Amino acid sequence: MSVPEYVRAFRHILGSAGIVDDPQRLTTYTTDQRQLATGSTYAVLKPATTEQVADIVKLAVRLGVGLVPQGGNTSYCGGATPDTTGRQVIVSLERMDLIREVDPLSMSISADAGAILKNVQDAAASAGLLLPLSLGAEGSCRIGGNIGTNAGGLSVVRYGMTRDLLLGIEAVLPDGTIVSDMRKLRKNNTGYDVKQCFVGSEGTLGIVTGAVLRLAPFPTRRSTAWLKLAQGGSLAELLALVRRESGELLTTFEFMTARAIALATAVMSNPPSVGAGPGGAVLLEFASSSRHLDLDGLMEAVLSEAVESDWVEDAYVAQSGNQRASMWELRETIPEGEKRWGGSVKHDISVPLSSIQRFLDVAGEQVRNYRADLELSVYGHVGDGNLHYNVLVPHGTDRIEFMRLIEGSLSLWLYDTAAALGGTFSAEHGVGRFKRHLLEKYGDAGRIAAMRRIKTAFDPADIMNAGAVVRPFEPESIR
Ligand code: FAD
Ligand code: MLT
Ligand code: ZN
Repeated sequence: MSVPEYVRAFRHILGSAGIVDDPQRLTTYTTDQRQLATGSTYAVLKPATTEQVADIVKLAVRLGVGLVPQGGNTSYCGGATPDTTGRQVIVSLERMDLIREVDPLSMSISADAGAILKNVQDAAASAGLLLPLSLGAEGSCRIGGNIGTNAGGLSVVRYGMTRDLLLGIEAVLPDGTIVSDMRKLRKNNTGYDVKQCFVGSEGTLGIVTGAVLRLAPFPTRRSTAWLKLAQGGSLAELLALVRRESGELLTTFEFMTARAIALATAVMSNPPSVGAGPGGAVLLEFASSSRHLDLDGLMEAVLSEAVESDWVEDAYVAQSGNQRASMWELRETIPEGEKRWGGSVKHDISVPLSSIQRFLDVAGEQVRNYRADLELSVYGHVGDGNLHYNVLVPHGTDRIEFMRLIEGSLSLWLYDTAAALGGTFSAEHGVGRFKRHLLEKYGDAGRIAAMRRIKTAFDPADIMNAGAVVRPFEPESIR
């Protein structure tokens, strides 16, 4: 069959509103958000129902056409865009964006996989509940993409990652079978936890079409503080102190260096007048749904203990909603600040909390030894052991060439250091197409073999997002 015949066959299932094949409109779907790679396709399929997803998957199997699921295309590792063969088509979930149900007593929300994260958060909030998944891309990323990448973000320290929030799933397997398990249960020990297979699978095991997510009581009180860190303080010990003394109320512990802060404030119209100490800064937040707890009093007590410890030079508690919002805006603007600077080589590192300081010390030394004039933008969800250890592209340097150079040299030193400390090269951004070689280099051989067995069992013909994450053992047909 020729390409026009493929398009006609998919259009027959989806109708004209369900397919984009105008080459000019395809480019936003074929290029990743950092514009590092552009794939090739002749169509974007936009199903409106789960049954349509199942029908296009069955057709794709018959035709030997590869499928690449896509949500908001905000991910970092090139997993949401096709390869350059021109033989994969994109399945965009953007038309499947309904909030299906909020159940306040079960504290759960069900939504289509194409629902934008912010809309799902808002629907939960209007029922007095919190969807505790929060990240800078929340206005454009979609629930299916969050599941595909097991997104983390800014409140993992309290609520966990997407994996911890997922109660139920609806998904289409690579042969068109619909898995319909949209239950709201916390307990359901009835064999394999199939829904968890899709979490972090980056579109390689099937297409998620719906999800049930766990909600929490909406925090009506928050206390937010900005800490300037002293030289030589221990981030991990500071975090341990804050955790111990704040009980279960800590929701955020975000670390930033002065350079990362400066990148954000340079692009903010009204930046807050906070800065960093010689050891950097931390954005700290306690939250509670209870009207009976004095969070500001608790924050003051914890902060004075932290200042006494000599790890913190100075600390401010946000005195208004505006001050809080502007501290948060600063933190969330860092990625945009890096972009406007001219880009960065991102290292999404995670190490055990006890080794964070060691990583910072060794990695700093490695960067200095590599090239003394390189500038770093370091920040991250340190409460979860996650550091974004990013190397800024020097002005006047070609961004892509610089990335290639660093990724083939310094990046590997940094990943070696993380690995030696029991850490990983990808804490929350996934593997996609860009980091497959790193999985092969740093992944445990047995674990990779297990992943390939799972991939083979789900998708022996390698229809789903071929080229991302891991290969099946014996691809049966062309993608
Ligand atoms: P996409 O990019 O469209 O897809 C991601 C992967 O999931 C792809 O492999 C795709 O094939 C697969 N996929 C998409 N939809 C489906 C589906 N329905 N079924 C099966 N597979 C599917 N990430 C974090 O974890 N924490 C952060 O703090 C964070 N902050 C960010 C801040 C900014 C400014 C930006 C731009 C990104 C940030 N990210 C962060 C990365 C990104 O937002 C997340 O990875 C997000 O979960 C991706 O969702 P998406 O809908 O854009 O997915
Ligand atoms: C963040 O934490 O802001 C993102 O995960 C990192 C990034 O955008 O580089
Ligand atoms: Zn992050």
